[in-house]
Amino acid sequence: MGERADSAERTTVVAIDGPAASGKSTVSREVARALGWVYVDSGALYRGITWKALRAGVDVRDAGAVQKLLDRARWAFPVRDRTVVFTVDGEEPGDAIRGPAVRESVSDIAALPCVRAFVSARLREMRRYGPLVMEGRDIGTVVFPDADFKFYLDADPVERARRRARDLAAMEGAADLAQVRASLARRDTKDSTRRDAPLRVAADARIIDSTALTVDEVTARIVAAVRAGKGTA
Ligand code: CDP
Repeated sequence: MGERADSAERTTVVAIDGPAASGKSTVSREVARALGWVYVDSGALYRGITWKALRAGVDVRDAGAVQKLLDRARWAFPVRDRTVVFTVDGEEPGDAIRGPAVRESVSDIAALPCVRAFVSARLREMRRYGPLVMEGRDIGTVVFPDADFKFYLDADPVERARRRARDLAAMEGAADLAQVRASLARRDTKDSTRRDAPLRVAADARIIDSTALTVDEVTARIVAAVRAGKGTA
């Protein structure tokens, strides 16, 4: 057991943090695929907990009620196709975690220290799955401050809103650019100003501004940096 824990602690982690709709998900998935490593979308855990709370009629700002939900529900995070999947009480929320109800409440639930402690512990346990590419807001700063590779992906707010509106239009049929921009800005403000693990750039993170870059270009930069760091380029 000790040996397994030791080798899990040495597992390579690529942390990719950044604000909403900065391209983290697409890029992180591609980086994981290129390296053959396991992909973890930490935001999906925060979104999944929000989804469960809304369905259970739990007030997302009531820390006591949310803590009870965390204690009582059965949370599991299996790996499928080299991707960590979120399930609660045997259910997979699927696309529902991208819908408007979750979108508008997730930053409130993510600000609760009990939720952050719960999610961070689960994320750290995932090291046992082997080398990881994990995206989020606090992966390089709080969850894995010792991550081998840290990237901070950013993009101009107008470009981020445009990208997210395009995703939403594909999912929901239409999206108003001004509304999308306002919603992203609300979430960015909450995520950067909360007391516990706010969104910020880790001192040793490499910042990539993806405003004028394609997904392939950003992916290639990250993969090259990781391979160079591991001496396998
Ligand atoms: O895809 P997008 O960038 O819009 O968001 P996400 O990565 O799915 O994260 C959704 C929300 O979860 C964020 O707005 C944060 O409030 C929260 N989150 C967090 O607090 N810490 C993380 N490591 C990941 C997400």
